[in-house]
Amino acid sequence: MDRRTFIRSACQACAALAVVPAVATLEGCASGKGTSYSVNDGALAIPLAGLTPGVNIIRAKGLDHTLLLDKRSDGTIVALALNCPHKNGPVKFKDGEGLKCEWHGSTFDGDGKVTKGPSKQDLKRYPTTVEGDMLRVNVG
Ligand code: FES
Repeated sequence: MDRRTFIRSACQACAALAVVPAVATLEGCASGKGTSYSVNDGALAIPLAGLTPGVNIIRAKGLDHTLLLDKRSDGTIVALALNCPHKNGPVKFKDGEGLKCEWHGSTFDGDGKVTKGPSKQDLKRYPTTVEGDMLRVNVG
């Protein structure tokens, strides 16, 4: 193997290794899928280790809508109900576009505040507390 071939092979190996964490991170962004949570005594208990930095979408038994958990770099975790206050339509998060209701197009910022109607109300924001290695979201 000549020097040029060796360097090319080494670079290709490094590039392949660099891609692995990115794929793992993307899969991590889909957290909540395959994990079963249930509301007990008006709250959800979610292991902090199961949350990726940024947006996590959670579905739970006993909750009639999906929940967005935003794990921020300052350590706070914001919990928003993803049902629209206008007529209860589903609100979806799209990377780069933010939060948008699929039925009539209301949009909301990262804190759940309305940025475009017809909704006149903000998304419901649930209080969160950290207890040990668990996140408690009070949805009751
Ligand atoms: S239900 Fe969301 S904008 Fe109408």
